[in-house]
Amino acid sequence: MVLVDLATGKVVTDPEEVARVLEPSADEAALAAAVGGNAGPIAISFPSFVDGRGFSLARLLRERHGFKGEIRAVGSLIPDHGQFLLRSGFDTAEIADPDAASVWKASIERIGRNYQPAARNTLPLRWGASEKTALELNKILSETDDLVPRIKEIAGAIEGRIAFSSSLGLEDQAILHAVAKSGADIDVFTLDTGRLFPEVLETIELSELRFRTRIRLVVPDADEVEELVARDGVYGFRQSIENRKTCCEIRKVRPLNRALEGAQGWITGLRREHSDVRAGVPLAAWDVEHGLIKINPVADWTTETLMDYLKANNVPVNPLHEKGFVSIGCAPCTRAVKPGEDPRAGRWWWETEDKKECGLHVGADQEGKAA
Ligand code: ADX
Ligand code: SF4
Repeated sequence: MVLVDLATGKVVTDPEEVARVLEPSADEAALAAAVGGNAGPIAISFPSFVDGRGFSLARLLRERHGFKGEIRAVGSLIPDHGQFLLRSGFDTAEIADPDAASVWKASIERIGRNYQPAARNTLPLRWGASEKTALELNKILSETDDLVPRIKEIAGAIEGRIAFSSSLGLEDQAILHAVAKSGADIDVFTLDTGRLFPEVLETIELSELRFRTRIRLVVPDADEVEELVARDGVYGFRQSIENRKTCCEIRKVRPLNRALEGAQGWITGLRREHSDVRAGVPLAAWDVEHGLIKINPVADWTTETLMDYLKANNVPVNPLHEKGFVSIGCAPCTRAVKPGEDPRAGRWWWETEDKKECGLHVGADQEGKAA
């Protein structure tokens, strides 16, 4: 018996011992029990090659139970299963004949992209072409200032899921309007940190009604939040930058990473004018960290262009903007700013660090990188 790595088609040398084997009849309780405890591999058994229940079990382990460890397919498997296993969340397959590994590899490589959320190899659009696609898209987007054509270009260039993270900020609202107008199929989501202003939630509802859409709320892991608050207290993030960054990591960064799993494009409302750190933000670039194309379709807009767009299209905006709030994050970490004050001065205002970022946008200070 050898193991094939489904993402690469290569034989796995020195595989980890399997601690738990799930039969295809496993119920919710058995799945939960398998996930609890150590993070070693879970094997799912396929007693016959026409029995598809194992595929569903792997998806449930990934999508409902958030299992991040190795899932191994064992039993009666044929190379044609490779693609389906991969899309369902399996990492490896145990095969009896080592010589069949090359047939498995060919079968896996036949389809060069997967964008199901559970898939382990959310591959580039075309083999090796993603960085190139990002560069091409960056160039195409720079040829027009108009937002609706930009959104259409983005939707045309990226075939997999395109996720749009919206904080309901001014930029995000302009983008949401353009997404609705373009008719592009884009997955809009907000990271609901549990600490958002009620006005943000009101703006979500207003926007959903106006644009006849749904904005997905992505929430942090409940256990992680409970542990954090038990350790640091409800306002623990005020005590140190380290605490603050941990809070942002748990309430924002990890949920973001989960929301982006399987996406091939990520739209944000970053603008170069936001701060010196963001001065080099490109319109589109390959994001190594998330393995997708990150697109900032209003990166080069001035505040004036943005405000003109919102006004001309009567786009609903967060009512807090009228009260002096510019950049709006979580309620306890955002205050209004005075006219002429740095737009990001109202974020984590008690901190003195120059580069105040919450970790959603890594490499924001590197020109040409996907900030
Ligand atoms: S932050 O990193 O400092 O919080 P900022 O508020 O400037 O970011 O927003 C920049 C972009 O980050 C937004 O346009 C949006 O794409 C994304 N973003 C920030 N906060 C959220 C959130 N709570 N939910 C979804 N996206 C967000
Ligand atoms: Fe926590 Fe404040 Fe970061 Fe929100 S902005 S996640 S409340 S530290």
